[in-house]
Amino acid sequence: MYKEVKLSEKIYYIGVNDRRTSLFENMWPLDRGISYNSFLINDDKIAIIDTVEAGFFEKWLDKVRTIIKDRPIDYIIVNHMEPDHSSAIRFITELYPDVKIVGNRKTTPMLEGYYGITKNVTEVKEGDVIELGTTSLSFHPIPMVHWPESMVCFEQSSGILFSTDAFGSYGTLDGGVFDDEMDFEYFRDEMRRYYSNIVGKYGNPVQKALSKLSALDIKLIAPAHGPLIRKNIKDVIARHDRWSKHETEKGVVIAYASMYGNTEVLAEVTARSLAENGIERIRMYDVSKTHISYIISDVFKYRGFIMASPTYSNELHPNMEALVMKLQHMGFKNHLFGVIGSYTWGGVAAKKLLEAGQNLNWELVGTPIEQKYSIKEESFNACIKLGEEMAKRLKE
Ligand SMILES: Cc1cc2nc3c(=O)[nH]c(=O)nc-3n(C[C@H](O)[C@H](O)[C@H](O)COP(=O)(O)O)c2cc1C
Ligand SMILES: [Fe+2]
Ligand SMILES: [Fe+2]
Repeated sequence: MYKEVKLSEKIYYIGVNDRRTSLFENMWPLDRGISYNSFLINDDKIAIIDTVEAGFFEKWLDKVRTIIKDRPIDYIIVNHMEPDHSSAIRFITELYPDVKIVGNRKTTPMLEGYYGITKNVTEVKEGDVIELGTTSLSFHPIPMVHWPESMVCFEQSSGILFSTDAFGSYGTLDGGVFDDEMDFEYFRDEMRRYYSNIVGKYGNPVQKALSKLSALDIKLIAPAHGPLIRKNIKDVIARHDRWSKHETEKGVVIAYASMYGNTEVLAEVTARSLAENGIERIRMYDVSKTHISYIISDVFKYRGFIMASPTYSNELHPNMEALVMKLQHMGFKNHLFGVIGSYTWGGVAAKKLLEAGQNLNWELVGTPIEQKYSIKEESFNACIKLGEEMAKRLKE
């Protein structure tokens, strides 16, 4: 049973909600699940745009068959080969052996490599169009948003952009499918957490994709995860534009590691000083408590970033190390940073945090602080000063 959800006269939402998987890519926490969005165009020809994770195949097929009954599927459009969207393809080709599979030249070897599919594969390139009846799809590769073969397609008569992972979000579609049917606020943060962690590394490819898509008259964005956007199109595009240019806002993230509380006290003193100096948006995270994805999402948003870690076996605290490694891999830009370390016999944490910020060409604020034993007046005052200086720099 499936109650139809229509995007336009001939276009249907046939995606599924996944509230069981707790970690997306076995890594990113899904507090409120995730949706795998898939679409069906029921015209003279029948086209499916992206599929779902294989475990949801039966649910998905039920929706498809409610719409098309015993007609065959003519096309499966493969916008993206990541298995959350493509792993059901193999089952579909078994049920519909004549279905044409549409990708681009980078999709073809992946189809063969993953699923042994070589038959009925159609390669499209930029601007190619497939006519389905009164509807038609044009194709636009957007390499590295999120994989090399990623592409979007645009349905010309309705102005619907099927945007694959671009403009996607974590969170299931709990009744509301379109942004104007739901409380969209929750998704604003989740969209940034999704973007910053999944495609945040690829700012330049995202910029290229956005400039390519600006030529299209988009009435609805239908991403492969999360809400379909029709009310907030301008806002969502503007936010992705800012994110991909690494534009940051006034505010500070303080991420600290602390086993026995000494480093935490230094972080708290700094936070209080920031507040006293007029910074309202302060997000403080214990890296052993909060998953890295939430911290990364906020580091992406706010210009100021203070890292605090004890020395641990001559290295950074392992959870802090994981965070700074990830930030370096992702090449996050445009940050003012401050450094706080603590140690007992030989401090290396402050030096390593300083190097991490320098590797990313961030601007250092103040002088790195490194406390031996418990907090003393000198480091206490240095943290107050760091807060003052960071606040001053953020107001410039
Ligand atoms: C498992 C462990 C390993 C540590 N390794 C070092 C070290 O290599 N060098 C050092 O100077 N201090 C080391 N320390 C001491 C801590 O850096 C120091 O106690 C620091 O103040 C802890 O900060 P915290 O109270 O915020 O956890 C270690 C402490 C622990 C518990
Ligand atoms: Fe992906
Ligand atoms: Fe995806």
